[in-house]
Formats: sequence, C-alpha cells, structure tokens
Amino acid sequence: MTLEARDLTAGYAGTTVLRGVDLVVPPSSVVALLGPNGAGKTTLLRVLSGLLTPTSGSVVLDGVDVTGESPSQLCGRGLCHVPEGRGIFPSLTVRENLVLLSTAGKEKASIERAVHAFPRLGERLGQVAGTLSGGEQQMLALARTYMQSPSVILLDEVSMGLAPRIVDDIFTFLEVLAAEGASLLLVEQYVTRALQIADYAYLLNRGSVVFAGEACELDADAIAAEYIGTGH
Ligand SMILES: Nc1ncnc2c1ncn2[C@@H]1O[C@H](COP(=O)(O)OP(=O)(O)O)[C@@H](O)[C@H]1O
Ligand SMILES: [Mg+2]
Repeated sequence: MTLEARDLTAGYAGTTVLRGVDLVVPPSSVVALLGPNGAGKTTLLRVLSGLLTPTSGSVVLDGVDVTGESPSQLCGRGLCHVPEGRGIFPSLTVRENLVLLSTAGKEKASIERAVHAFPRLGERLGQVAGTLSGGEQQMLALARTYMQSPSVILLDEVSMGLAPRIVDDIFTFLEVLAAEGASLLLVEQYVTRALQIADYAYLLNRGSVVFAGEACELDADAIAAEYIGTGH
C-alpha cells in the first residue's frame, strides 16, 4: 500500500503548521520523519491518520483520496496510528484495551496475536493499563495496532522516555513489522537508530519539507546536532 501526502496544509485555530507538505511512503518501506520540536511531525501524522482535517491538500492511499475519513475508517483500510502519548485507556485493563480495537467476533484471535508479539502482555491481561510500566504501556500501544494487521503504521516517538533496554525491544519489534511487510512512517528522537532501519527520510522544519531522499544520504550526527540537539 502506498501512502501519499499531497501538498498538505494544516494547523490549529488560525495557526498554520504544515505548509505544502508532500511525502510518499512506498509499499513495504520504512520512512523516517525527522525534525526539531515544533516542526509539525505530530501534526502531519495526525492529518495522515484522520485525527486532524487539513486546510488544503490531500491524503491518498493507493491512488484513492481518503482525506477527511475518520481514524477508524482509515485503520480499516490498513492505515493505523500509534499516537504520541500512546493513546491507550489507562483506566481499562490490558484485555479491555485490546478488545476495544478488535473486530467483533475476532477478539480471541486478536488478543492472541497481540500476546504473541509481546508475551509480557499475556501475563498482565487483567491488569489496569495505567499501572503498567512505561515500557509495557508502549508495548500495549504497539500491540493494539499490530493486532489490526495494518499495511502502513504511523509511529509517533514510540521510544520516548523509555529505558535503553526497552528501546532496544521496541526497535527489534519495528524491524519485525518491517520484515513482515508493513510500511512504517517513523517519528523518532533516536535519529541514528531511525536512519539505520529507514529506507527513506524526510526532514521537516517549520512545517515544510527541507530534505527528502534516501536515508543513507543523511548524516545522523549532523542532523542531531543541527536540528534536534539530542538523541544519538
Ligand atoms: N492542539 C494544538 N493546538 C494549537 N497548536 C498546536 C497544537 N498541537 C501542536 N500545536 C503547534 O503546532 C506546531 C507543531 O507541533 P507538533 O506537530 O506537535 O510538532 P512536533 O511533533 O514536530 O514537535 C507547534 O508550534 C505547536 O505548538
Ligand atoms: Mg511530536
């Protein structure tokens, strides 16, 4: 499945954040979306996933204009989002969090798929999600998305605030997703690691694409120093 942003402009209450953004996520590819804080990375993922309606421009999936469709419609088409802050329900149990995103009648198979990806969740199905460790909450967020077998996954800083060992586990899982053929649009503070698994990279600054090309063309250290300031 090919995801395209075409000349997207978007913002909040009169403020323009994205200015004419063009981006392509080709089938079965990993695309890193990099840029400093406030560049508009989260806003772009929100527009692509249907959480925010663009002012102009379009979101296109396999040549079909899907602009304005809801997040659940888009996820049904195979485009799913792991949002900033994880998007899980902290007061519900792990099982309830998984069931909420399962197709009716397929709850058991969905939970099995989630637990297969992250066995630790299997031991905690009855636990209230808000009492999981940060790493386990992120595993739950990833597992909920994985369970839906998406073709394209938008990932917003999924390693944020986690211990190095957990970050390793998460990157290993991202590589599994990619190996299984899913496309990833990856917003990451760990620039070097993101570029290691990425085929293509986009650099966003002040809502505009300032670089688009192959990931190997970018110098991670220079980007980290110049644009991001942290995250090697
Ligand atoms: N809900 C919101 N309402 C108003 N402005 C917002 C909102 N979310 C983000 N912004 C603004 O949009 C700009 C881009 O933010 P964001 O997309 O979160 O950037 P990034 O993810 O690259 O750090 C920032 O100036 C931010 O303050
Ligand atoms: Mg962000």
